[in-house]
Amino acid sequence: MNILVIGSGGREHALVWKIAKSRKIKKIFCAPGNPGIAQLAECVNIKADDIKGLREFAIREKIDLTVVGPEIPLTLGIVDSFEDKGLKVFGPSKKAAELEGSKVFAKDFMQKYGIPTAVYKVFKDPKEAKEYIKECSSPLVVKADGLAAGKGVVICKTKEDAVDAIKLIMEKKEFGEAGERIIIEEFLKGEEASFLAITDGKTVLPLPSCQDHKAVFDGDKGPNTGGMGAYSPAPIISAKLKKEIMSSIMIPTVKAMEKEGRPYKGVLYAGLMITDDGPKVLEYNCRFGDPETQPIMMKLRNDLVDVLFTAVEGKLSKIKLNCENKVALCVVMTSKGYPGDYEKGKEIKGIEEASKLKDVVVFHAGTAINGGKLVTAGGRVLGVTAMGVGIKRAINKAYEAVSRIKWDGAHYRKDIGEKAIR
Ligand code: AMP
Ligand code: GLY
Repeated sequence: MNILVIGSGGREHALVWKIAKSRKIKKIFCAPGNPGIAQLAECVNIKADDIKGLREFAIREKIDLTVVGPEIPLTLGIVDSFEDKGLKVFGPSKKAAELEGSKVFAKDFMQKYGIPTAVYKVFKDPKEAKEYIKECSSPLVVKADGLAAGKGVVICKTKEDAVDAIKLIMEKKEFGEAGERIIIEEFLKGEEASFLAITDGKTVLPLPSCQDHKAVFDGDKGPNTGGMGAYSPAPIISAKLKKEIMSSIMIPTVKAMEKEGRPYKGVLYAGLMITDDGPKVLEYNCRFGDPETQPIMMKLRNDLVDVLFTAVEGKLSKIKLNCENKVALCVVMTSKGYPGDYEKGKEIKGIEEASKLKDVVVFHAGTAINGGKLVTAGGRVLGVTAMGVGIKRAINKAYEAVSRIKWDGAHYRKDIGEKAIR
């Protein structure tokens, strides 16, 4: 088969790495890809949101299956556009991707179908929102409705902070149209986990549980990022809790989307808070997580092309997922300054040395080739991923690999996985 993967991050490198192991592959393309992906696939210079350009390419190159990484093309309707031309593509339709594209849609949907989530209210008018704050007790969470590259959520310790967040989103329009409506919701206490499943709209196959590390500094300090590291499985998700998440969240979500006339196929990713009252949904994503995909792909034993193609065909009930009984852990290395303004163009050394370690894969994200040298080109630069028996071995191996990689200003968290030991 000819496969096209869309995107250019660590998630897409992990998908391409896994797809490259499939026996069914003739050729892999990635648009636009990155230098790590270029070692396994032909990178084509088409942007991930250029739906028309991607569709023309898929027709021309006789692509048998397209796998979409990021949320933007999904919410723009890439799946509908490809299917119109009879192209097979793994991901939800535009109407189904609204679960991620609009937090208001997702919250109203969860309320309608009794899927556990934080108590909330929606506002279009900043004045009314500020009035409402007066009745609330803090802490509170203020969220922009639309996509804001993971930055549209403000955790407010005090009511004053909440008023500032309303001003930022609705009056200063920090996130543009995404902030035309906001959600104000209760602050949930607990531990977070990422729960991903592959679905064809009927069968829902859970992937190994995972825990992301969103804050930029050790001890969950500092601003949130796209994710500074992840490990899988997450010990907080016991077998019992996994059953509960499947029966109270994942399966009801897929069933209810069908009822809404928005049948969901692709990856359904629930960002969860495990509270004293059980698991609650913080948000849905309509795609693989980044960096969750890096450890998940290392653990997965199935032929990924087989799984994704079977899902697209609506025959997922035939598949049984099979995973390594080990821990996989990814440490994200970032540019100095990220998630704020960051430096670029620093030469990266030591990836080869790190990759010599057994069961270690260095996934590229924001890298580029400049004058024949590998340099930094984004906030999140590399996802150094290792697998081992037990969390301690996975941690030691990942950090041994990280210690071999150097560039001027490289930053990474030193405590990825510690929560799993505790
Ligand atoms: P979201 O994009 O909605 O997942 O929010 C980003 C991050 O904000 C989450 O990963 C949580 O750390 C935090 N968050 C979002 N909603 C809540 C909430 N209701 N209570 C506590 N933390 C939250
Ligand atoms: N790691 C968080 C996300 O992919 O949204």
